[in-house]
Amino acid sequence: SPSLALDRTITLVGLMGVGKSTVGRRLAQRLALPFHDGDHEIEAAAGMSVSEIFASRGEAEFRAGEARVMRRLLEGPPIVLATGGGAMMNPETRALMKQHSVSVWMRADLKVIAERVQRRDTRPLLRGRDPLETLSQLAEARYPVYAEADLTVDVGGGSHGQAVEAIYREL
Ligand code: S3P
Repeated sequence: SPSLALDRTITLVGLMGVGKSTVGRRLAQRLALPFHDGDHEIEAAAGMSVSEIFASRGEAEFRAGEARVMRRLLEGPPIVLATGGGAMMNPETRALMKQHSVSVWMRADLKVIAERVQRRDTRPLLRGRDPLETLSQLAEARYPVYAEADLTVDVGGGSHGQAVEAIYREL
């Protein structure tokens, strides 16, 4: 039952393009919890877009900022938190997620994700590269780590609304 999770932060993890932000916002409404998007908080703190941070400061600095933002959010009151696809790869962030949240791996077919990310050009890791190939490489490195999430929910193919319902049922 959802009441189990209501007093804990719910962290959504998974590859870019799987719908963490859109689904997270709607799940938060459903649970009457505030919604936060890790990428947006990093952008607000830096006064730049994620792409601009990568370009002007490099990925390492982006990751350091991401870890600070994740710490602040995870140590705060319960929220629904959409993470950037790489956030859980940081061991410290991972430990904080385990300590402070119920984590949900949103999993979908890589082909479905590749089609979605092709519609937008906001992701520096995909710039100028074949999306499916890049996503496959990321999946190989990250799926063993995403698999440490408390819950895994298959959201592939369906609508965002169906994903919200599927996660809600599992909580
Ligand atoms: C990244 C995912 C992005 C963003 C950055 C790096 C990643 O977030 O944090 O471009 O390493 O997978 P989304 O998962 O919200 O696209």
